[in-house]
Amino acid sequence: MKTNVGWDIGSLVYDLFTGKVDEQLYLEVLLALGTLDGIKLDEFGCGTGNLTGRLPETTKIRAVDYSPIAIAKAKQKTSKNVGFFIMDFYQEQPNGYKPDKIVACRSLYHSDLSLSLGILSRHLGDGGEAIIAHPTENWRKYVTPIVNGKREFNFVQFVKSNWRFANRMGVPYALFSADEFERVGKQHFDEVIINSAGYDTHYLVQLRKRAFSKK
Ligand SMILES: C[S@@+](CC[C@H](N)C(=O)[O-])C[C@H]1O[C@@H](n2cnc3c(N)ncnc32)[C@H](O)[C@@H]1O
Repeated sequence: MKTNVGWDIGSLVYDLFTGKVDEQLYLEVLLALGTLDGIKLDEFGCGTGNLTGRLPETTKIRAVDYSPIAIAKAKQKTSKNVGFFIMDFYQEQPNGYKPDKIVACRSLYHSDLSLSLGILSRHLGDGGEAIIAHPTENWRKYVTPIVNGKREFNFVQFVKSNWRFANRMGVPYALFSADEFERVGKQHFDEVIINSAGYDTHYLVQLRKRAFSKK
């Protein structure tokens, strides 16, 4: 993986560009995560903690991000049930136990999707579940969310779409189709469910491992 300096800079301004699409996306991610009371959840790419801060205090959470600036901000939005790990989750993951669930909200940007999903699958316990939110590869869909049944231009989304050029600056930002999530997801998990979320700007991917799966 390349340097995280790009995300460090992003973390400084990230919260200035949190709009109604983000609010909706966090809500849908939380719904997809289902019951969290008393379970162990790992968050890969917690960023400035906008999703982390919405998770229940009854969940044991390990939040990972390789930007110290993002983590410093996230700490201010969370309670004692969250442990923070400054690490590149492609290189290492928190150890000691396997989580029941993993959430990766807009953070699996490595160009090798199989590498990303393989890491999630191996890190999860049997019967575990991973929830991924990822920006759609379609620029128009990303910038013009469907609100009240109509596509409309959204300035915040437009600003965020500039991250699509991040690859050129050495910051990984790969996008994938729903078909790719489905095909690669099935290589690493027993069940794959794909929906759209955040007013059609993101894919919401649910990946489940069977209990006692040999994978
Ligand atoms: C677009 S932000 C999303 C933050 C948060 N999940 C949200 O939806 O508000 C992506 C975050 O993932 C982190 N990230 C990306 N790749 C990572 C990696 N390989 N290891 C650790 N953190 C990573 C970045 O530092 C950044 O904070």
